[in-house]
Amino acid sequence: RLAPVIAPSLLSADFARLGEEAVALDRAGADWLHVDVMDGRFVPNITIGPLVVQALRPHTARVLDCHLMIEEPERYVEAFADAGADIITVHLEACRHLHRNLQQIRDLKRKSGGRVLAGVSLNPHTPASALVHVLDLCDLVLVMSVNPGFGGQQFIPAVRPKIRELRAMITAAGLPTRIEVDGGVTVDTIADIAADGADAFVSGTGVLRSRQFGRDYAAAIAALRG
Ligand code: DX5
Ligand code: ZN
Repeated sequence: RLAPVIAPSLLSADFARLGEEAVALDRAGADWLHVDVMDGRFVPNITIGPLVVQALRPHTARVLDCHLMIEEPERYVEAFADAGADIITVHLEACRHLHRNLQQIRDLKRKSGGRVLAGVSLNPHTPASALVHVLDLCDLVLVMSVNPGFGGQQFIPAVRPKIRELRAMITAAGLPTRIEVDGGVTVDTIADIAADGADAFVSGTGVLRSRQFGRDYAAAIAALRG
């Protein structure tokens, strides 16, 4: 099993000070920085594009984990790779040719060298079985535990059996695929999700807008590590 990863989501950051927020999260011990890209079509909200990723890139050496909640992601993956994305995750529901889209991401080269890691995200209603024939092309499976579009929503417990099913599929296939969970991940939900087999944890409000820890991102991240 891979070491658990905490990936705070910049969606809950102060967008007028994104660079400083990235530096603060980096210093606070974030493993990855999760970047929520929304197009106002696949999801009802609009956020960040490749230009913002490019602007963030010089501020941190951490993995930029780009979650593309957009239609026709194949039109933009190259721009995100050029901007400095380390991981590019597309939504299964937004891909008519998912196999081709994963190949496309895996073939991208990063400017800093090495390949871009490819992820697939599943909406809460999408079954784990939808990935059987592409699992070997997924460096990461991102399980949405809220309906994508907004931070600060309640964790949907019905996705827990899906995490367990995915972990069983990955283990049976002998793959190194990570399972990342996104949405409503807090100190109250993380232990259950980890027990189900997830090993990467996105947290937006849980880190950046925590009632318990205020602006102390380091304390919030440490609490998630348990
Ligand atoms: C939701 C985004 C999440 C969001 C999670 O569409 O994909 O990454 O930032 O926010 P919290 O942790 O507040 O549920
Ligand atoms: Zn996300």
